[in-house]
Amino acid sequence: MIQARVTLDAALAGQPVDDRLFGGFIEHLGRAVYGGIYEPGHPTADADGFRADVLDLVRELKPSIVRYPGGNFVSSYRWEDGIGPIENRPKRLDLAWGSLEPNLVGVNEFARWARKAGADVMMAVNLGTRGLEDAVDLAEYCNHPAGSHWSDLRRSYGAAEPHGFKVWCLGNEMDGSWQVGQKSAEAYARLARETAKALKQFDSSLELAACGSSHPGLPTFPHWDETVLAECGRYIDLISLHYYARKQNNDAASFMAEPARFERFIQIVERLADAEAAKTGRKKKIGLSLDEWNVWYHTDAADRRDPPWTVGPALLEERYTLEDALVVGSMLIVLLRHAASVRIACLAQLVNVIAPIMTAPGGTAWRQTTFYPFLHASLYGRGEALETVIESTGYEAREAGPVNWLDAVAVERRAPESEIALFAVNRHPAEQIELTARLGGFPGSGVIEHIVLSHSDPLAVNDRDKPGRVVPVKVTGAKIEKDTLSAILAPYSWNVIRIRAKTARKR
Ligand code: AHR
Repeated sequence: MIQARVTLDAALAGQPVDDRLFGGFIEHLGRAVYGGIYEPGHPTADADGFRADVLDLVRELKPSIVRYPGGNFVSSYRWEDGIGPIENRPKRLDLAWGSLEPNLVGVNEFARWARKAGADVMMAVNLGTRGLEDAVDLAEYCNHPAGSHWSDLRRSYGAAEPHGFKVWCLGNEMDGSWQVGQKSAEAYARLARETAKALKQFDSSLELAACGSSHPGLPTFPHWDETVLAECGRYIDLISLHYYARKQNNDAASFMAEPARFERFIQIVERLADAEAAKTGRKKKIGLSLDEWNVWYHTDAADRRDPPWTVGPALLEERYTLEDALVVGSMLIVLLRHAASVRIACLAQLVNVIAPIMTAPGGTAWRQTTFYPFLHASLYGRGEALETVIESTGYEAREAGPVNWLDAVAVERRAPESEIALFAVNRHPAEQIELTARLGGFPGSGVIEHIVLSHSDPLAVNDRDKPGRVVPVKVTGAKIEKDTLSAILAPYSWNVIRIRAKTARKR
C-alpha cells in the first residue's frame, strides 16, 4: 500500500474559485445541437424542440457558462443565417466539419436553451472568414436593448429582451492549420485588438477572451501568446487556452500524467501574462480561459470515415472509460489549484461530441464516466481553493516527467454549511493509497461522505444498454482523529471526501 500525505493550513489564504470554472461547450458539430440538445420529434422534446431529458442532465451538472457556437465551426459561420423565420434560413456547408448546417438553431434559440439550462453564454465571434464589423453587429443584435437596426430585428424575431451575453471569444484557435482563416500571430493579434477595442466601445463591461495557443505542442507556442498579450493586453480580459489529453500508444502511465503537462501549459501562460503586466505596468490582471479542455483520442479514425455534408453526423462520439474519468478528475484538480488565474474553464463539450452526456436518437440519454468528476467538482468545488501540499511517491512519465501517485486539492465552502471537499485521484492501477490529511487549523468535526468512482476494469464504459456500469459509490472507513483525516483510496480511483469543518480562519 502507498502512503501519501496531504497538508492544509488555515493560516494560508485560499483562492476564490470563479463559478465559471464549471463551464461547458456546445458547438454546431456532429450531434451536439441536432440530435443532442435539439430533437423536435423526441418524446421528451419541449415546445422549442429541446430534449427535456438532456436538459435535466445538463442542469444536474450545473454548468455556470456554456461556450457557443464553436469551436472550429465559428470560423466560417455567418450568424445572420441563424436568425429570423426558420423556413427562410439557408442551409450551408460547414467547412470545419464537412457537415450540412440547417440553421434551425441560431443565437435566439440557443439563448433560450441556455436560460432553461440555467447557464450564461460565452459567445464566440468569427475572426476566420469575417471580422470586426460582423462581431459588433452580433453584439448589437444580442445585447442592445432596442432602437437600433440589429436590436430591433432581434425584437421582431421574438426576443424582446437583450440576451445580455457578457463574455465573448475573439475567434477560435486562430493559430491552428486546421482553422478556416488561420492567421499569423501578428495578423491575428492586430485583428483581435481592433475587434476588442470596438466591442469595448460598444460596451466596456464586456469580458473579452483572445485566442492563446490551441496546444503547447504547436511550434508557435509561446510566441503566439506573447504576441497576443503584447498587442491586445490593453483591451482584453482573458487569454484562451485549449488542451485535450490523449492516450497514445496504449501507454496508460503517460496518459495518467497528462494533467501534469496541462498544468505546465497553464503555468507558462500565467507567467507570460504576469510578465506582460510587469512590462506595461498595467494593474489589470489578464486571466486564463481554458475554454476547451477534455480527454479526446478515441474517435480520430472513425471521424475520417464520416460521409460529408449531412446534418448532425456522429462525430467525435467518444465512449469514455473509467481511466478517462480519472484524467478528467485530475484536470479538474489542476484547474482548482490554479484558481488564482483561471477564471473560465469549459469542458468541451457537453452533449454527444466528446461529451459527458450521450443520447440515442429518439431514445434515452445517459451519463458517461466523465460526467461524475465534473458533477462532483461543480457541486462541491465552489468556494476557496486551499493550498494543498501533497507528499507522495510517484513515477517518471515519458513526457510529463515525475508525477505523484496521488493528486489532490481541497476546497473550502462556507455556505450553506462550512465544509471542506478533498478531491483526490489515485493514479496507481493496482495499489491502494493510505491517505492521511492534516487539517491544520480546520478542526474537522466529521466526515460527511467519501464518494468513490472506480472499477475493476479501467476500460469500462457506460453505454445505452448499461448506463450504470461505472457509477460513484459511497464508502465507509474515512475518519478524523484530532486534526487528521485518514482514508483508503482504491487503485485507479476518483475520490471526494467531504468534511464538516469549523473554520478557524478570519476573512
Ligand atoms: O471541441 C472540438 C474542436 O476542438 C473544436 O471545434 C476546436 O476548437 C478544437 O480543435
